[in-house]
Amino acid sequence: MAARALFSLSLSLGILISLCSADWNILNSQRTRNGVKISLKNYCEGWRMNVELHNIREFEVVPEECVEYVGKYMRSTQYLVDSERAVEECMVYLSTSCSLKRDGRDAWIFDIDDTLLSTVPYFKKHQGEKLNATSLEEWMSKAKAPALEHSLNLFNEIKAKGIQIILVSSRREHLRSATIDNLVNVGFHGWSSLVLRRPEDELKGVQSYKAEVREKLVSGGYRIWAILGDQYSSIQGLPNAKRTFKLPNPLYYIS
Ligand SMILES: *[C@@H]1O[C@H](CO)[C@@H](O)[C@H](O)[C@H]1NC(C)=O
Repeated sequence: MAARALFSLSLSLGILISLCSADWNILNSQRTRNGVKISLKNYCEGWRMNVELHNIREFEVVPEECVEYVGKYMRSTQYLVDSERAVEECMVYLSTSCSLKRDGRDAWIFDIDDTLLSTVPYFKKHQGEKLNATSLEEWMSKAKAPALEHSLNLFNEIKAKGIQIILVSSRREHLRSATIDNLVNVGFHGWSSLVLRRPEDELKGVQSYKAEVREKLVSGGYRIWAILGDQYSSIQGLPNAKRTFKLPNPLYYIS
């Protein structure tokens, strides 16, 4: 009996400590500024939504109190539904609004990480940690990232229409062969080019680097019908694609 009481005491202390350390205090933080009573899930869903709306920018880590929620979301059916919906909108656009010239200059740009390949297995092991580029690259070099199946379906549809597929990633050039192995092993093949960051590109922001890639494509006569990416830095900046589509990604922010 005593042991049980002790156990439940330590359990509730544990919960209390983790709530306090996460700054989610029953006394002052379960109401919004306007006094609406909310749960931690409400709070974290609001955070996630505002990341996707691009109101919250430049975040370095997922807020400690939402690490568990974001982890669950990334492995949830909802993440799949949200992503599949984005891909469905790409398909609608492809079939209704792209008047392709079929001259070898119709192009579609894809990101790689968390657009074609999932980094969720990596982040599952490093939940709540500050992003460590070295260890993430070590993981990428193993070429074991799984495909995002909805994106693979879209990739194949686009390929079948004769559109040139251009992969533009913020991965660095030294990961080229691992990246190709990984993509091919999980079913992505037949793209026209794979653009990775060279040392001189690392001095620029990712958004400028990706815009410069588009600049070259446009001056080479390509019509960029769309971009599918998971980061705003992949879809913003000039020159524009005719349409942009964004997949959900509350795990990290690349500027
Ligand atoms: C980042 O990861 C590398 C490789 O796994 C490791 O050696 C290094 O200590 C890590 N750095 C930090 C700050 O955790």
